Amino acid sequence: MGKLSWLAGTYIGAVVAAAVACIAFGSYAGVDWSAVAILGLLLVACESTATLLRPRKVAWSPSSAAILASVVLAGPVGAAVVGACTMFGLRRGPSPVQRAFNTAMYALSAFGAGEVYLLLGGKVGMPGPSSFPGIIGPFAGAAVTHVLVNFSLVRGVLWVTGSSDGTGQSGRGGLNVRLLLSDLGYCAYGLLIAALWSVLGPFTPVLVLVPLFVARWAVAQFAAQQRAYEATVSALCQAVETKDFYTRGHSERVSRGSVMIAREIGMRGERVEAIRYAGMLHDVGKLGVPTQVLQKTGKLTDDEYAAIQLHPMRGLDIVREIGFLDEALAGIMHHHERIDGRGYPMGLAGDEIPEFARVLAVADAFDSMTSTRSYRGARPVPEAIAELRRWSGTQFDPAFVDAFVAAIERDGWTGPDTAAAPHGRATAAAHDHDDPTAPLRTIG
Ligand SMILES: [Fe+2]
Repeated sequence: MGKLSWLAGTYIGAVVAAAVACIAFGSYAGVDWSAVAILGLLLVACESTATLLRPRKVAWSPSSAAILASVVLAGPVGAAVVGACTMFGLRRGPSPVQRAFNTAMYALSAFGAGEVYLLLGGKVGMPGPSSFPGIIGPFAGAAVTHVLVNFSLVRGVLWVTGSSDGTGQSGRGGLNVRLLLSDLGYCAYGLLIAALWSVLGPFTPVLVLVPLFVARWAVAQFAAQQRAYEATVSALCQAVETKDFYTRGHSERVSRGSVMIAREIGMRGERVEAIRYAGMLHDVGKLGVPTQVLQKTGKLTDDEYAAIQLHPMRGLDIVREIGFLDEALAGIMHHHERIDGRGYPMGLAGDEIPEFARVLAVADAFDSMTSTRSYRGARPVPEAIAELRRWSGTQFDPAFVDAFVAAIERDGWTGPDTAAAPHGRATAAAHDHDDPTAPLRTIG
């Protein structure tokens, strides 16, 4: 959140003012201050240890459990005070304005949840066995209110600031709904805390939430590992594109195209992720090809052509020890095989070629054709599709050509940004080993 517009300032100011009014003018009758203090501390702990998820800006916190427990134990105003404890969270990162907004948002959503709880017949105080199942309806209403108020206020602030929610979606477009659904799940822990309070007292939050914190810790480790993977793949990709600036952006687009095919054919999640890496790294073996060969503007000699044909093997040599690449390695090694057996490096045919490699081959050739080369301009998408169909069954697996075409016709395709090409060099090299329209060449 940079410098605020008047609209954003007014919006945030109004949210903060509404939260202050709820706490200042609400009814404090029957508020259990010891529960408020303990749950406030719990909320501070949750906020201070929020788990950073893969989209870098989104942090995950089980604060909803503390807030919903306070709705039952301390009523609307008590819950709003617990929500306002967000301001004491020790997590670094939020600016003072963000912190003020978050605090007000949690206070307001807690207050709203408390009011709905009362409205639906919920009783404030420690629930006993006789409170069930009657308490479930009012509690569910409170939980939904809490999540919806949060959702609306966050959407509002993203909209007025025009910022992103950290998932790549525009603030004016959407918000991570899955994150909010997980929030709704945490709300259920709130009822558990409230229900056990009469037996375990202040130790309840600890006993209920310890398993949750352990699970979050595991998720945080996983997220950190994923970020390390991303960094590794990006660094290798960057190295290839620094060396072969002629095909800048190609790896990312091949990755995107491969994922489109993978999703179209119903590949399961982990394999889609692996093929994304395979697309990014399919030409990593170019690091082992002499730069003057990659950037040569004239006709390649047989030796130079042979050096380029070695890049799938070189690629495998470079990344074979990277454990998480797993099935991606087969894609990197065989992405220039052809269905008719006339490809390289092994001359595999048909189903002998690993599935990843057959997928990559389609996306790779398509991106090459829709990119500008020194010996031809970028082909329009319909023309490149026609070319894929022409080579379907000889060079490409027909099933993956069909899948790619279906995905492109439905979702479209964003080709390279020609304006972003390196000055004077974008069309320098005279050879593109990915171009299916280039004549097939064998080394004698
Ligand atoms: Fe290649």
